[in-house]
Amino acid sequence: RSRHHRESLTAAPPETTHITLLETNPCLVHYCNKGRECILDESGEASCVCQRKCPEVEGRRGRRLVCGSDGHIYSSHCDLHRTACLSGISVSVRRGVHCIKHGKGWANPEHEAQWLRPSPTTPITTTTAVNTVATITDATMLTTETPVMVSSEIPEEMTEPAVVDNEIESGEFMGKENPDGCTMQEYEIMKDNLLLYNHARLMSQDNHSKDYLVSIMFSHYDSNNNGNLEPTELNEIAREEHLNSLSSGCSLEDMINFEDGDRNGKLSINEFYIAFSKLYSVSVVSLDKALETNRVTARVGDNVEIKCDVTGSPVPPIVWRRNHLDLSTIGEEEVRVFADGSLYLTRIQLQHAGNYTCHAQRNKDVVQTHILTVHTVPEVHVTPRIQSKRPGEDVVMYCHVAGEPFPKVEWLKNDEPLHLDSPKKYQIVGNGTALRIRKIGFADTGAYMCQATNTGGLTRDISSLVVQEQPTPSAPNEERRFFAFHERGVSVYEPTTCRLYHQIQSTDIIPGTQESVCGGKGVKCVWGRAVNVANRYVYATQPDKDRILIISKVQMVVVDVVATDKFPVDLYYVPHLDQVWILNWRSTNNTGIKTVQVIRDAGQKRKHHTVHPEPIDGQFDLVRGLFIPSPNQELSHYSFKYGYVTHTNQRGLYKLDLANLRYTRSVDLTPYNCVPAQVQFSALYGLVIMQCLEPVTGHPTGQLLLDYLTDTVVATKPGLPGVPFISPDSRKLVTLDRTDSGATLIVQEITPTGVTFSFDVKTTLNISDITFYPSETTHSYDIYASAQDKEDILFLNLLTGKVEIITGVGRAMAPEMAKWGNPNRPIGGSGLFGQYMVTPANEALFVINGRSRTVNCEIGAVAHPSSIVWTTLKYH
Ligand SMILES: *[C@@H]1O[C@H](CO)[C@@H](O)[C@H](O)[C@H]1NC(C)=O
Ligand SMILES: *[C@@H]1O[C@H](CO)[C@@H](O)[C@H](O)[C@H]1NC(C)=O
Ligand SMILES: *[C@@H]1O[C@H](CO)[C@@H](O)[C@H](O)[C@H]1NC(C)=O
Ligand SMILES: *[C@@H]1O[C@H](CO)[C@@H](O)[C@H](O)[C@H]1NC(C)=O
Ligand SMILES: *[C@@H]1O[C@H](CO)[C@@H](O)[C@H](O)[C@H]1NC(C)=O
Repeated sequence: RSRHHRESLTAAPPETTHITLLETNPCLVHYCNKGRECILDESGEASCVCQRKCPEVEGRRGRRLVCGSDGHIYSSHCDLHRTACLSGISVSVRRGVHCIKHGKGWANPEHEAQWLRPSPTTPITTTTAVNTVATITDATMLTTETPVMVSSEIPEEMTEPAVVDNEIESGEFMGKENPDGCTMQEYEIMKDNLLLYNHARLMSQDNHSKDYLVSIMFSHYDSNNNGNLEPTELNEIAREEHLNSLSSGCSLEDMINFEDGDRNGKLSINEFYIAFSKLYSVSVVSLDKALETNRVTARVGDNVEIKCDVTGSPVPPIVWRRNHLDLSTIGEEEVRVFADGSLYLTRIQLQHAGNYTCHAQRNKDVVQTHILTVHTVPEVHVTPRIQSKRPGEDVVMYCHVAGEPFPKVEWLKNDEPLHLDSPKKYQIVGNGTALRIRKIGFADTGAYMCQATNTGGLTRDISSLVVQEQPTPSAPNEERRFFAFHERGVSVYEPTTCRLYHQIQSTDIIPGTQESVCGGKGVKCVWGRAVNVANRYVYATQPDKDRILIISKVQMVVVDVVATDKFPVDLYYVPHLDQVWILNWRSTNNTGIKTVQVIRDAGQKRKHHTVHPEPIDGQFDLVRGLFIPSPNQELSHYSFKYGYVTHTNQRGLYKLDLANLRYTRSVDLTPYNCVPAQVQFSALYGLVIMQCLEPVTGHPTGQLLLDYLTDTVVATKPGLPGVPFISPDSRKLVTLDRTDSGATLIVQEITPTGVTFSFDVKTTLNISDITFYPSETTHSYDIYASAQDKEDILFLNLLTGKVEIITGVGRAMAPEMAKWGNPNRPIGGSGLFGQYMVTPANEALFVINGRSRTVNCEIGAVAHPSSIVWTTLKYH
């Protein structure tokens, strides 16, 4: 069944048989979670039910048992998932632990944490006994029959946000059980307790090695001094010292069952040593109070090793977690837990910032928190790079700064601070976003530096000013143009003069082929989306032609045609991998049978073709949505390694490894009743922001925040409906909630501690689309929003909440005419220092000047423009 989804280097669209198959069997496109299977009901609708039967498992090494997070042993993975489905409880596979018992009875309160209770005359000493398990709290316990007790491990996954079936490293457990009911788990606990008891009893004043302790124990137990421990000796000592309550089900005598390697019915000193050599959770785990929280700072790109200060004797195995998820299970090469208990983070990105905790495997009470702060070297860009002016004129230069933490911004002239005491001369706008110089004289010639400083370092960029009587006309160092896709082809314009540069007609023959751009005379072009690729090409989907056109930015002609699956619509460019991701709808309707394809080396000059990502679970990867981080995010660099896909009505996500074109994990959002409809990625602090809908009804269920690293849910905003948009600097989150009477824009701030509400704005405008525009007074962004049915553009200052309206931008095309999920009134800015935005009306293009908030020009006689792509030409 997965045949069609192997990499197809010839880029053949799927065969028709494949499509017929899907139409006749809805189960092929209906995804069921593990432990469930798809069935067709009487009306032929697909639905998921608990798997009716598990296949018989025959293994060469006998029965491979699976240990569940509920503490039960299952005969197979299928058995585990099926049982979980039938009981309605989330159970995952546990690795590297011993299960308790068959049957019920584990999740029983009386089995839960019964902490260590040391005896008063023999206090356990630790060097820094501040935060240990051994808190002597209950004096009445001291005289009871129970000398010590170590808690059994509580199945932790049960209390955590569900991450389904993270079976990249699945855990299997070879059943080993003593017939008399003393399980491995209980036996281990007994040995632990025995050691703790003896530690407390025999070694109150010293902290010798465990081996020493074990040797003392041996000689103490070997009452006849014959160098062996016989069952009678063990029973006797257990009776004398009331050791039978060390564990439920195991007695001291069981040591002979488990440890008697040579089967001579008694334990030698070697066998006794071996019995304790594998134990780890002995003795007291401790952490110096002063080390409870540890601050770690790192710069993007650094490698950091973090040591866990939770100690014990012997050194206990350490578990590292982030948002409660065990980091040894996330399969992330940049996040590794070493055997010595340290955490190793390589090529740190902003997303790695946050809290990491560590604790001993068998003791979750002593926890150390490491707060990792990640900073970047500031990024600074100025414009213009050079300008030449007459004396007496006013000049302005702009600076944009990005960095974490946000840097201090200053302007310097020729390395010296500006003399700001003459305010009539210099005016610094906002936080240094612009420098104005009034009535310049020859002395103002110089190199003006915008300088940004934070803990990550210092960066400068220079804007030069030359004051001359006869200014040399300086050619701009770059020029922006936009490609407008409309029914008669593609037109390329310059936004300042609104001059048409070039026109690709629908009837033009594509060079090197016999085909025309859109078809013969009178055939209207149909465009899906268009994107800028490496500022070298513009890629545009032609849904009705099952292909992508690649247009050269400079030559402004079609240079390549790439065949795709049926109805390609959405396009995403991933700059650091030079990939274009395509979402093929395979229908004229927006349904859940879409396929994903990738064009690699998308910005390279070569013949391009598509490949499919790897199949998932051997099934067709037919998806509902594809979510790829935006290429416009500042500070993101190489950090976005993943995207996500969704399936129809599935309350969850599949995580997509972009470089390797394969799925790595699934994320279960059932507890939040969330079918993700829109996903945004924040480079800062690694947040994934999702708009959630209910399955079937499609009612909003609010916003969810996920940690990009662990895919755990870190915050829920059930009362916040609407489509999220994130600013390019990842500091503002604007949610557009369309209502019957217009729209509400909810503005939130992204901070190191999460997303916080700033303000909201209600408008009666029916908002169609939103674009971010660099703020004039901060280094962040404001928004412009277009309207579905009014000739107005709304401007919203995201710092102050101030609103302005730009009027007279023409009538948009009727909302029902907008196809392929496009807004009927798109609006798009031209990026940093790009002064202009373009918004297509029904039969025209409007160029908006975002600085003056006026209409710069109207370009008429453009038939139903649907997409705009900005490009930059750089002159050096
Ligand atoms: C106990 O052991 C620790 C670590 O091995 C050591 O630093 C400490 O000095 C020892 N304390 C005593 C009393 O021997
Ligand atoms: C990180 O840990 C610190 C100290 O325990 C705590 O105050 C803070 O809220 C934590 N931050 C997050 C995002 O959990
Ligand atoms: C200006 O920059 C400082 C840091 O230097 C920052 O704390 C402050 O919030 C910024 N103000 C605005 C309006 O962005
Ligand atoms: C697409 O949707 C329309 C309206 O919802 C429906 O009438 C039509 O049958 C659908 N087409 C397909 C191919 O599913
Ligand atoms: C928004 O759309 C609704 C329904 O189409 C309409 O009644 C309302 O007048 C519109 N609002 C504006 C400001 O045009």
